Amino acid sequence: MMSTPPLRRLALTLLLLALAACGGGGGSGDTGPLPEVDTRAVAQDDPGSTLPANWRQGPFAEIFVRAYQDSDGDGIGDLRGLISRLDYLKDLGVTGLWLMPVTASQDGDHGYAVTDYRRIERDYGSLADFDALVAAAHARGIGVVIDYVMNHSAAQHPAFVNSKAGTGNAFRDWYVWQAGHPSGWNVFGSDPWRNGFTGWYYAAFWDQMPDFNLKSATVVDWHHDNLRFWLNRGVDGFRFDAVGNLVENGPSAWESQPQNYTLMRGVKALVAGYERRFLVCESPANPLPFGDACGSAFAFGHQFDLIAAARGDATAVRAVADYFKTAPLTMSTMLSNHDSFAGQRAWDQFNGDQAQYRLAAATLLLMPGTPFIYYGEEIGMAGAATLSGDPKLRTPMSWTATSAGFTSGTPFRAVSANIASQNVAAQLTASNSLLAWYRAMTALRRANPSLNGGSYEAAVASGSLLHFQRAVAGERSLVLINYGRSNASATVDGLPASATLNNAFPPSGTDLATDAGGSVTVTVPAQSVRVLVLRS
Ligand code: NOJ
Repeated sequence: MMSTPPLRRLALTLLLLALAACGGGGGSGDTGPLPEVDTRAVAQDDPGSTLPANWRQGPFAEIFVRAYQDSDGDGIGDLRGLISRLDYLKDLGVTGLWLMPVTASQDGDHGYAVTDYRRIERDYGSLADFDALVAAAHARGIGVVIDYVMNHSAAQHPAFVNSKAGTGNAFRDWYVWQAGHPSGWNVFGSDPWRNGFTGWYYAAFWDQMPDFNLKSATVVDWHHDNLRFWLNRGVDGFRFDAVGNLVENGPSAWESQPQNYTLMRGVKALVAGYERRFLVCESPANPLPFGDACGSAFAFGHQFDLIAAARGDATAVRAVADYFKTAPLTMSTMLSNHDSFAGQRAWDQFNGDQAQYRLAAATLLLMPGTPFIYYGEEIGMAGAATLSGDPKLRTPMSWTATSAGFTSGTPFRAVSANIASQNVAAQLTASNSLLAWYRAMTALRRANPSLNGGSYEAAVASGSLLHFQRAVAGERSLVLINYGRSNASATVDGLPASATLNNAFPPSGTDLATDAGGSVTVTVPAQSVRVLVLRS
């Protein structure tokens, strides 16, 4: 190898030092003028809400806009495409949508590397399209909740480009910097400290997603301005990303720190200052405390029990029965979502066993909690055969037997492995389809207020049979789900004497009555669901 002559080496060193001093070079790659950061303050200006008070009880659909419906043939889903599918979503029976990030992003995919918190991702459309989506959803009684990423931005976000320029930059303190490389850290299996060339910055998830310094009141206030920006436009709330990771206090204190709860209580208060808004938080490691701090949080862990119970695992049936005995009824539930750590698509977890799939969906939609349906779950979309990891779960929606229903162009990603058999077009016309089942379950929930927002009582797991009651004033539902392969019976006591139990499901069922002692024995055929309603 040729060695560099000493004079040239000195000249090179001087050049690098000069570049670093003016805020660029030295590996940062930023040599131009520093970008402006939009720090305009936003005051509260609530347009109000036209949604019914109980819209927040769901069910919600989780929508990946990139994968939902393309309207312009570029192979990428967009907001106009989503608008064209709102009637489908209304018929599915959802009252809310959670849109994965729709803000401008660096990752060109799921959107969690945000480059502008007040602009719509170019691939998806414009702010005007977004306003049109919110108006069209509201006209159908559907609320729109967007993902908000407070923990980190994209490395290309103007604030980070500034922050990285040097220690004297006004935005330096917006992110988490150390002069030397801190040692002893291990976050999600790797070192979260990244070489920024003007220092070391903390980025828990990816070197291109630097964490904000949320100990800075300026940064928190700026996020609050961003939240008001969307709430003032009529957005109905937020799904808050990675709330377990907001503040880090040391190598073994980087998750679920006390400040995280304080921060989320601040956000909850801000959101509650607007009419009928909703906040749900994501903290896979420790969800329950965020149920309180945010109002709702995803019930991570519970989804595995829902799936295992549907397969007939008696321990999981017990866990499902017990969950809401202690967890707040406001927790948000799901079978799976867009992250593979939360499980593969339900179809793949059930190996296409539709009987089990239906039992899982019924449990999700009849139990307490705010249920979320991952897009395509209602038709049994599988992952893509040719992909692995997260992309496998994030395929274009299977509207028809080929990608033609999603786009007139070339889809941005491989389609689901089972698109030919499991697609909306085929299932809309089949009365016994999985889609028809999901619709029946959401309709059952809607038709009976006790199933939507009622209490959770008298839950019993007996082998593969689960039964529980849910009540509101004037109505009590009895739900029985038999996950087993043979008929099962349960005797339910403590009900009013000689009362009629109206059959609510299945449609072929008949009314029953309690005896003089207030008991009733119900037989539930193998792998089936029975719902009876007592009205006073
Ligand atoms: C959780 C999101 O669900 C996931 O998709 C994302 O990559 C991380 N947070 C980081 O934003």
